[in-house]
Amino acid sequence: MTTITLRNLRKEFDDVVAVNGVDLTVRDGEFLVVVGPSGCGKSTTLRLLAGLETATDGEIRMDDRDVTGTEPKDRNVAMVFQNYALYPHMTGRRNITFGMNATDSFTDEEIDRRVAEAAETLDITDLLDRKPQAMSGGERQRVALGRAIVRDPDAFLMDEPLSNLDAKLRIQMRAELTRLHAELGTTTVYVTHDQTEAMTLGERVVVMDDGEIQQVDPPQALYDFPENRFVAEFIGDPAMNMIDVAVEGGVAVHDAFRIPLPTGEAGDGKNVENGTAAESLADPEAGDRRKAVLGVRPEDLHPARDRPDLGETTFDATVEVTEPLGDSLLVHCSVGDATFKMGAEPRSSLEPGGTVSVTYDPERLHLFEPETGEAFYHSSTAPVTSDRLERVAND
Ligand SMILES: Nc1ncnc2c1ncn2[C@@H]1O[C@H](COP(=O)(O)OP(=O)(O)OP(=O)(O)O)[C@@H](O)[C@H]1O
Ligand SMILES: [Mg+2]
Repeated sequence: MTTITLRNLRKEFDDVVAVNGVDLTVRDGEFLVVVGPSGCGKSTTLRLLAGLETATDGEIRMDDRDVTGTEPKDRNVAMVFQNYALYPHMTGRRNITFGMNATDSFTDEEIDRRVAEAAETLDITDLLDRKPQAMSGGERQRVALGRAIVRDPDAFLMDEPLSNLDAKLRIQMRAELTRLHAELGTTTVYVTHDQTEAMTLGERVVVMDDGEIQQVDPPQALYDFPENRFVAEFIGDPAMNMIDVAVEGGVAVHDAFRIPLPTGEAGDGKNVENGTAAESLADPEAGDRRKAVLGVRPEDLHPARDRPDLGETTFDATVEVTEPLGDSLLVHCSVGDATFKMGAEPRSSLEPGGTVSVTYDPERLHLFEPETGEAFYHSSTAPVTSDRLERVAND
């Protein structure tokens, strides 16, 4: 059982700051996913945890042990890589046991027992006597997982372990990993650039950009309460629409529409950082009117005729392009100088060049500061997670 704590962790390569002051606690037994664009410092963070890189500054603790300067072998973590890193001339069994024999701390019976157990768990008993070239990508990845499991490590560190698999197998292995984690309960840090993988696998998800943590939250909280534009646009596909507006007297005003912003009491889920939403909608310095970026996800916009239940505020937009996705129709629209995407019923008759009356879910509006990109308003009344309340209280 292991808690991993990173304090002000920093890694510089020559003139690149790969990891820039990361503070993070991975809870005992947690499946934590780190997600972010290419080059944001995910692998470097993981390699620092494994001891494969030396920190420029900061501290890594496993439970109450400071492991910052220790060798990989003294950390008792097991790493799983994207390319599996199997030895081609060794059988599945030898690949799994390779590191164990070398350390001499296991008896032969112990090794046999552990391999049998891991093979059972991963359903790879039939592969133990085969060499990697006679295995499929998914089978190789299972063997690589087997090698991690037999050591019974304090933590698993996984760097994009599924990205070499085809789409279908990846979805299958995703479910396998979730099952495996439920069974073993080992603290796991999993790195990916794929936001769907992050959302489906993570108990909590860390969003990184440019060497820094942007937000840490359970997947749904990340989706419902993005703390800044980066997170709002990175999580969710297609990305959240962003439209420049002015906020005046509790209304988001654009040349082409006026959207009233629901307000509530602090603590009911609306705008937890800033007290009551009504208060924070006015800029403390500029008074009643302020510039903002309105964020709305495509699935929270609808042709008005499909959703009469959503209320009477509608606005007209021009249909630019339609993309049938099978289970929905993605409609690219324009309104004045702004463009946005909207989800519609799959067989809607919406023709490019035509006009569509648009409505929206008033519980799913977000406002961001134009300069900093910080979120300052969410209209949702969904329950706020304990993680989020804890962090707001600590700020
Ligand atoms: N050994 C190295 N020497 C110099 N620069 C490095 C080294 N390793 C990583 N970097 C740089 O550090 C930054 C972070 O790299 P890292 O591999 O952690 O990114 P990543 O988030 O894992 O990206 P990807 O999704 O592409 O794997 C990048 O700018 C990268 O070029
Ligand atoms: Mg990487």
